Amino acid sequence: MRAQRVPVDYRPRSARLSSLSAVTGLNVMSDPCSFSSFTRCVTKHLNLHLHLDFDRHVIRGRVALTVEALEDRFSTLTLDSSDLSVVSVTANGQPARFSLGPKHSFKGTPLEITLPFDLSRGQHVIVEVTYETSPSATALQWLTPEQTAGKKHPYLFSQCQAHHCRSMIPCQDTPSIKHTYYAQVSVPKDLVAVMSAVRDGQEVDLQDSGRIIYRFRQTVPMPSYLIAIVAGALESREIGPRSRVWSEKEFVEKAAFEFSETEAMLKTAEELAGPYVWGQYDVLVLPPSFPYGGMENPCLTFATPTVLAGDKSLSGVIAHEISHSWTGNLVTNKTWEHFWLNEGHTVYLERMIGRCLESEQFRQFKAIGGWKDLQDSVNTFGANNPLTNLVPSLQDVSPDDAFSAVPYEKGFALLYHLEEQLGGPEVFMGFVKSYIQRFAYSSVTTEEWKNYLFAYFKDKVDILNKVDWNAWMFTPGMPPVKPQYDTTMADACNALSQRWLQAKDQDLNSFKQSDVKSLSSHQVIEFLSLLLQEDPLPLTHVKKMQEVYDLNAYMNAEIRFRWLRLCVRSRWEEAVPLALKMATDQGRMKFTRPLFREVFNFEKFRDEALRVFLAHRAGMHPVTSGLVSKDLKVDVSNAASQ
Ligand code: BES
Ligand code: ZN
Repeated sequence: MRAQRVPVDYRPRSARLSSLSAVTGLNVMSDPCSFSSFTRCVTKHLNLHLHLDFDRHVIRGRVALTVEALEDRFSTLTLDSSDLSVVSVTANGQPARFSLGPKHSFKGTPLEITLPFDLSRGQHVIVEVTYETSPSATALQWLTPEQTAGKKHPYLFSQCQAHHCRSMIPCQDTPSIKHTYYAQVSVPKDLVAVMSAVRDGQEVDLQDSGRIIYRFRQTVPMPSYLIAIVAGALESREIGPRSRVWSEKEFVEKAAFEFSETEAMLKTAEELAGPYVWGQYDVLVLPPSFPYGGMENPCLTFATPTVLAGDKSLSGVIAHEISHSWTGNLVTNKTWEHFWLNEGHTVYLERMIGRCLESEQFRQFKAIGGWKDLQDSVNTFGANNPLTNLVPSLQDVSPDDAFSAVPYEKGFALLYHLEEQLGGPEVFMGFVKSYIQRFAYSSVTTEEWKNYLFAYFKDKVDILNKVDWNAWMFTPGMPPVKPQYDTTMADACNALSQRWLQAKDQDLNSFKQSDVKSLSSHQVIEFLSLLLQEDPLPLTHVKKMQEVYDLNAYMNAEIRFRWLRLCVRSRWEEAVPLALKMATDQGRMKFTRPLFREVFNFEKFRDEALRVFLAHRAGMHPVTSGLVSKDLKVDVSNAASQ
């Protein structure tokens, strides 16, 4: 059924909401990933005291939540928690009763708190929880000195998005709620701590002179998933008027070079989207096991070292994370079902920055690559899988399992389609900017976004009514419309991939080193992506490709990843150790999961893939090892005993 022109709906809000949920499976009043109902009370501020214990791999924490009641006779609240041991709870300084409910597979354990008094609607209470994290907290990876570049000091980093903050801090762990935070973090004195906030000084820990306390302030309200912490032997260097790069000293210079365009990107983003409200914009380069390419932690983007290509060619990740300062961090998806609002708009803005700093053709080229990434995700999930909906129901689905290129690239494709229909990039960017200013500091659903779109383009409602909204948003598979992108930069990639696909053995001598030397690294990536969409090349072909192009020597992670996949698919046995090495030398899930899967699917090396995974599992990030276990069908009960 296709959604046609939506008539004005005069029914009460509750009736409208329930009919929406009947159609879409979405419940607009709650968050399927959180036990903390945000309809009864909301957190306004967190005051954190964190003591990092590197011997036991735990954080001893005390968090004071300032909570506002949204109803009268308010006396109980539920916080999210996961593997926390709770020592005590107080409310305005008085002891409060608490209990932990049953553990849910991915939502964790509800922490039920009963206040020793009632609040009226609008009143505040300070709820203080004293607790300790588990050594296997999913938000945290504790690295031994041997796992760091410097080899001398341990290291800790967090990754809270989507629903892991609750394993670090008991809180209302839903993106529908925004609060400020202050923090003080005690670490051994050889280490430096940084957080997703503005740095606010340091002092000797009076309880232990071998430790330092670092203080932080985040004065812009933000959701819990943006709380982030790192501690290690960190150094930093200035790269712009409001920016520094942070990392172990071994990476600082390389990172400063790689991210030298940061200020230009920030200025461009401000011209497009409005003022940058977060004050500082720093970038922290993490150890190789960081599971994502980048993470938009406010004031301090986290980045994988795999973007240090040496030629700034992977700085698009920084353009992306900068863009989240508006779409995601200022305007936030209300639940993870509306994740495309974060990522689709961010990819749109990221490519707009590319348009301003490079060219429109570059934007079009990136969009072609994105469509291919979308196609790959749809193929991996299956074209009928409801998780390929732009707006999926996440009832009983972990956001980690739902993660894919779909919200990014179906989201981008929808926004680009609207741009084309409504008058081009300037016109549509006007809408995006207005949407950002309208919903800044709040969290939104797809419906609110769409209503605003119709209001903004009130003179073009006839065009908007021709969009097949139901197909775009609530139907699995590829989008109903394929945009026609400019192929100027993609033509060379298409031509070269076609030559390889059509070459007979006797044609192989026609390939020359100059075929790839004349392409930019973006184009080499695109060339390999095109080959990966086809049936595997004959083994003779990939061997020849290595002989003339020497792709084994490429250290650009995006190129190397695609090349090694291609080789393993063509059943080149010599590529297997290289693929497994890349899968374990770094832990970015976008690379590690497909590399393991690819070797696993090579029957002869299936056991080798498993052996290497099991040998490395203990040193991997907890989320990555959990997902690779599922990918390789490793028995989880067996996993727990390892
Ligand atoms: N916010 C995401 C990373 C993320 C998403 C972490 C969901 C946990 C759950 C970040 O902004 C992102 O999209 N990173 C991409 C960068 C790329 C699109 C340029 C990545 O990690 O590859
Ligand atoms: Zn993103």
